[in-house]
Amino acid sequence: MIAPTVPVTVAYNKDPSPIKLNLGVGAYRTEEGKPLVLNVVRRAEQMLVNDQSRVKEYLPIIGLAEFNKLSAKLIFGADSPAIQENRVTTVQCLSGTGSLRVGSEFLARHYHERTIYIPLPTWGNHPKIFSIAGLSVKTYRYYDPASRGLDFRGLLEDLGAAPSGAIVLLHACAHNPTGVDPTLEQWEQIRQLMRSKGLLPFFDSAYQGFASGSLDVDAQAVRIFVADGGECLAAQSYAKNMGLYGERVGALSVVCKTADVASRVESQLKLVIRPMYSNPPIHGASIVATILKDRDLYNEWTVELKAMADRIKNMRQQLFDALQARGTPGDWSHIIKQIGMFTFTGLNTEHVAFMTKEYHIYMTSDGRISMAGLSSQTVPHLAGAIHAAVTGVA
Ligand SMILES: Cc1ncc(COP(=O)(O)O)c(C=O)c1O
Repeated sequence: MIAPTVPVTVAYNKDPSPIKLNLGVGAYRTEEGKPLVLNVVRRAEQMLVNDQSRVKEYLPIIGLAEFNKLSAKLIFGADSPAIQENRVTTVQCLSGTGSLRVGSEFLARHYHERTIYIPLPTWGNHPKIFSIAGLSVKTYRYYDPASRGLDFRGLLEDLGAAPSGAIVLLHACAHNPTGVDPTLEQWEQIRQLMRSKGLLPFFDSAYQGFASGSLDVDAQAVRIFVADGGECLAAQSYAKNMGLYGERVGALSVVCKTADVASRVESQLKLVIRPMYSNPPIHGASIVATILKDRDLYNEWTVELKAMADRIKNMRQQLFDALQARGTPGDWSHIIKQIGMFTFTGLNTEHVAFMTKEYHIYMTSDGRISMAGLSSQTVPHLAGAIHAAVTGVA
């Protein structure tokens, strides 16, 4: 399990060194190391401000209807039969975390199997969200430290041994913290195994478009599960892909076998949400809906999204090249093979402690670094620190 990022940032903030570098933050930064508000978000906000007919009334319990519809289309595809057949119910929630929490509260109350399998390792908040909601949490093998890639055989063995009907948490793309995703062929095998055992997929989609740069490519895993007509849940976050971190905007979708079940699920979701926070906030969802429904704004978003994804890929390449150029011992190809915001470097706790002490570089103790926190200026500093750590520390 990963250490929380807050203590990393606290330690970073206290460090007076001018060369300090924070690679623990799970948020995008520009080449200049600054947070980014997308231009398309600024435009949408301006349109909202200028619209004098807008009021600040409460939203319904399940949020902004238009936002929910557009969010389902974004993840499942505009022509998804599940949407056309009204088998999907979508509720606006408080970003990815809130969507996972509402989904797991619903499952703990109404689903016949209360065990959820999560990958090992996974995002540090997952076990807490699910256990507090009342699910029993078990793990399945996911990451192979030797290859720094997917432990596919371990994954199939563990899911194959799970009790039928169990819930399985799947990262839709850009697995956090490892950056290791199954290939499409592997996803298909996972799907077949899960469907044959009646395991319920619960997708966490926190990085759609942010991983590959394409919204459709990053939704492929989810879509192959929905295409078979079976049930699944999906938690969406707009924190990363629209840079709306603090607006707390996300959605939970439940794909059901029939329209009738979908409408009953929606009633039950309302009963989960009402005593938790009554109804969700209006501003972030209005920004998202404004962008998703307007062709011009949508296109601008895809360009800005791709630029973020490309910058991260470029940082991967630069770091890999810098280590190659130094002749740093070991195989570092995982840096360019992994995908998304994070690289699971394979550096151990001692390496991390050394790099923090000697080079003022901050990261989680499991060796995960945020590629989004790097720039062309800081890559040599990091490469030098990694080289010194692996050549000088046991
Ligand atoms: C895998 C994963 N799921 C969900 C989230 C939820 O983020 P948020 O609640 O900000 O949308 C994150 C954020 O880091 C994440 O990495």
